[in-house]
Amino acid sequence: MRNRLSIVLLFLLMMLKGSGQELPRKMDWWKDARFGMFIHWGVYSGPGRGEWIMYQEHIPYEEYRKLAGSFQPRAYDPAKWVALAKEAGMKYVVLTTRHHDGYCLYDSKVSDFTSVKVGPGKDLVAEFATACHKAGMRMGFYYSLTDWHLPGVLPQGYPKSRDILQPLVKQAHDQVKELLTNYGKVDILWFDGMAPGDTGVWHSDALIRMARQLQPDIVINDRAGTAGDFVTPENVVTAHNQPWESCYTMNRTWGYAPSDNNYKPVAELIRLLTSCVSQGGNFLLNVSPDGDGKIPDRQITSLREIGNWIKKHGVAIYKAGPSPIVASNLGFQCRVGDKVYLFIQRWPGIVLPFAWCGSHVISAKILTTGQTVRVEQKEDRVWLKGLPATPPDPYMNVVELTFDGEPKATNPAYR
Ligand code: GLC
Repeated sequence: MRNRLSIVLLFLLMMLKGSGQELPRKMDWWKDARFGMFIHWGVYSGPGRGEWIMYQEHIPYEEYRKLAGSFQPRAYDPAKWVALAKEAGMKYVVLTTRHHDGYCLYDSKVSDFTSVKVGPGKDLVAEFATACHKAGMRMGFYYSLTDWHLPGVLPQGYPKSRDILQPLVKQAHDQVKELLTNYGKVDILWFDGMAPGDTGVWHSDALIRMARQLQPDIVINDRAGTAGDFVTPENVVTAHNQPWESCYTMNRTWGYAPSDNNYKPVAELIRLLTSCVSQGGNFLLNVSPDGDGKIPDRQITSLREIGNWIKKHGVAIYKAGPSPIVASNLGFQCRVGDKVYLFIQRWPGIVLPFAWCGSHVISAKILTTGQTVRVEQKEDRVWLKGLPATPPDPYMNVVELTFDGEPKATNPAYR
């Protein structure tokens, strides 16, 4: 009897596994979130020439350590960063707890190069974690596997020799353990800095196993030599058939660089966000606080503008994924439940036509103004009529389509 019961249970488990629900539930919040904040911040933020200066300017460790001594972020108030992320409509924040320079923004017992031992004299990650937890903001830790402050690594960037790598591997396992033990719930682990082809050397499987043991619900990226839970195209939007997140700079530099004024306009940032969303991906947008801990005004202004846009259009962002009905002559589109949203880049004027629509459109509304527009439908051709002649939103206009059931196309989408 007991045997039979376990066979039935096993069968049920196998059914569940193969039921097409390919993604673990712990990915649900991450996929719904769609928009997050990346924060590149560390000793390099003081000089303000980007996060790679130690390597690019070949700064020896002793000199870089002196720089770290002058890292005194008096304006550091992570609650402000988190509040800004919220204002921008972002649902998670990922902080560089340790970049390639090896400087830990936290109290690592296995390194002499930490914010407790050199510079501010305190655990900056602890304050960040408190701010996130208090605000109910999902928290991610970026962690670089490479470490230029250790002997022999700097000249090589990403070390190739196994002898040089060994201490880094041991340190990474110890430090990831610290990060995932000492700061409460961590939602995302965002690895970086592994040379391609180093998989075996880092004992990545064991590293990931430990991470999941310490934080069972953690979501892990793909840059530690294993597939991870999601992939991370960088400064490019590329759809994948597994969860993906495009990370982007606002100008062209991750770390603070006041002379880099190549800022993307707000319209472009919103276009990138909606492009990710319409293809089923997340958008992780970077900010670069200065050495004092202050996010540049230009970045704050852009984020607030995005936040204002999201207040009116958020229904088309969160939980959104690809739409079966497309209107690629106009821009992008996405689907949330039984609704389809058209992200319009080329405003069509007073009549908006689209086609290959296999479901009945009950109503249509412009989200920017709340104005409903007339719908005419003849088989799979649809016309929305009575739109304003010029686009009401300066950044991205969105039309909400309501159907009497599941939205379907009459033809496979040709995007
Ligand atoms: C790269 C760079 C790094 C940056 C990261 C963000 O790997 O080395 O500076 O932190 O990408 O994705």
